[in-house]
Amino acid sequence: MGSQSFIFLLLLVVHVAVQGSMDTETSFDQNYEVVWGDDHVVSLNQGKEVQLTMDNCSGSGFGSKMAYGSGLFQMRIKVPNRNSAGIVTAFYLSSKGGRHDELDFEFLGNRKGKPYRLQTNVFVDGQGNREQRIRLWFDPTAHFHTYRILWNQHQIVFFVDNVPIRVYKNKTNIGVGYPSKGMQIEATLWDAESWATNGGKTKTDWSYAPFRASFQGFDVSGCQVLTSNAKNCSSDKYWWNRQKFWQLDPVRQSEYERIKHKYMTYDYCTDRKRYPEIPLECL
Ligand SMILES: *[C@@H]1O[C@H](CO)[C@@H](O)[C@H](O)[C@H]1NC(C)=O
Ligand SMILES: *[C@@H]1O[C@H](CO)[C@@H](O)[C@H](O)[C@H]1NC(C)=O
Ligand SMILES: *[C@@H]1O[C@H](CO)[C@@H](O)[C@H](O)[C@H]1NC(C)=O
Repeated sequence: MGSQSFIFLLLLVVHVAVQGSMDTETSFDQNYEVVWGDDHVVSLNQGKEVQLTMDNCSGSGFGSKMAYGSGLFQMRIKVPNRNSAGIVTAFYLSSKGGRHDELDFEFLGNRKGKPYRLQTNVFVDGQGNREQRIRLWFDPTAHFHTYRILWNQHQIVFFVDNVPIRVYKNKTNIGVGYPSKGMQIEATLWDAESWATNGGKTKTDWSYAPFRASFQGFDVSGCQVLTSNAKNCSSDKYWWNRQKFWQLDPVRQSEYERIKHKYMTYDYCTDRKRYPEIPLECL
């Protein structure tokens, strides 16, 4: 067999293997359920893709059936196109009940032709106000991209397509809060015209409704918890808890520095008007 036909065969095998894994891809219903705006949620491709829609009557949202205490949580997302000012697409982890913990990705809708901003936030015991925003280096309305949150006892990392855009370290030793409650995975599409785009100056233009956000990838790598606390989820029998994931490796670290330098448009850590004293976790 010539080397060319060998390579062709190899590609074929890889192709079939990839197809095979696509076919067994987890469907929405296995891990998730609609939690809001039932008639505004569309399931496509045997539950391998879900579309949230929003119009002047309602937005919509879904959430995981289970709560988790650590893991690598990810979804492929395509956000509303055209003019989506005022509309927020959110993908996040949140605990239920008072003094909640929450880890957010929020796509702040854009005016037509303007770049999308992606905001992240971290809440611990009900306290958030830790916003960071970046400009994305691609058009998130054109294709699906993967958004991930790694959460173990040592660090929380937000990734966009494998690129770390935010790291929140466990600094409980100096009195900084760190999420410890079981959290559910959620995704929502909602109207936030009072604050989302240009700090609320650009309002939702309903003539562009319905707005649509699409989601894929409903498998979950997480430590399930039944109660509201995340004990027992730090065991290194879960791969995301292993030492390798306690900090960024040097390559990722330098990518992260580059993102902060080049794409970050807002960082609460450097907002001296809002925080005359540097928040402890930023030191
Ligand atoms: C909502 O939008 C529909 C279709 O554009 C329109 O007919 C209707 O009057 C709107 N309702 C409200 C409450 O604005
Ligand atoms: C933060 O780190 C400390 C020290 O490693 C650990 O004891 C604690 O459980 C961690 N906190 C959380 C909430 O994971
Ligand atoms: C969970 O933690 C408790 C004590 O905190 C321990 O007794 C139990 O064996 C642990 N279970 C597992 C599955 O690790």
